[in-house]
Amino acid sequence: MSTRRPIVGGNWKMNTNLASAVELVEDVVAQCQTCTAGCDVALFPPFPYLNPVGAKLGHHAILLGAQDLYHEPNGAFTGEVSAEMLIDLDVEIVLVGHSERRHVIGEDDFLLNRKLHTALAAGLTGVLCIGETMVQREAGQTQQVTVDQLRAGLEQIRVEQMRQVVIAYEPVWAIGTGRTATPEDAQAVHAQIRTTLAGLYDEATAAVTRIQYGGSVKPSNAAALYQQPDIDGFLVGGASLKADQFLDIVRSTVGATA
Ligand code: PGA
Repeated sequence: MSTRRPIVGGNWKMNTNLASAVELVEDVVAQCQTCTAGCDVALFPPFPYLNPVGAKLGHHAILLGAQDLYHEPNGAFTGEVSAEMLIDLDVEIVLVGHSERRHVIGEDDFLLNRKLHTALAAGLTGVLCIGETMVQREAGQTQQVTVDQLRAGLEQIRVEQMRQVVIAYEPVWAIGTGRTATPEDAQAVHAQIRTTLAGLYDEATAAVTRIQYGGSVKPSNAAALYQQPDIDGFLVGGASLKADQFLDIVRSTVGATA
């Protein structure tokens, strides 16, 4: 079991509307009196609902998160959202390189590295998401792909900036499919990620960096995954749209009582 403070994020993706987003955050807050005592908890609503969701969070310890950002500070970038805009809305944490950004929208490692630099420079925590596709897994490339994405994403990120970085390992084939990596399979990749971090930085940095697992995490599989020594929490999609399920997952991590 992990010795690091766990972190669980709810990635709402392009779901909810204004009314249901507000209702969902109200439900989470109501059911999470003390759920942040032993676990960092973050919600990632769609951009248009950051402000109303943030307003409902108020001074609650739950972190307001964004699903993406753009790396330029401002200017003629139609449709994009800057780090400063996120800071303006009290966002504290941002996803970088979610598999849907990589594989549906087509973002590459170079762009994602620039986004991560921008997020960290602005004082945000960046969640760098990595993971292999099914084709890559079946070709025996899981390790190569995840290590390559990790190295590319962290290019020129300094050791002291790693305090602001969380890694999310999300095998693409497990996202939204109902298929989850076995705890042992996930652990093997998490351990490899930590070894890579030790090589890129040092043992101490690797030991404190949190690595989330994501991909069809549910209340029924979270506890077994969390038993693994290098799984430090979860990035949750579908199950985060139900407050009770999301909080059951939060509670499955050590020290979290709600
Ligand atoms: P899922 O999504 O839990 O619906 O599989 C996870 C994610 O994409 O972060």
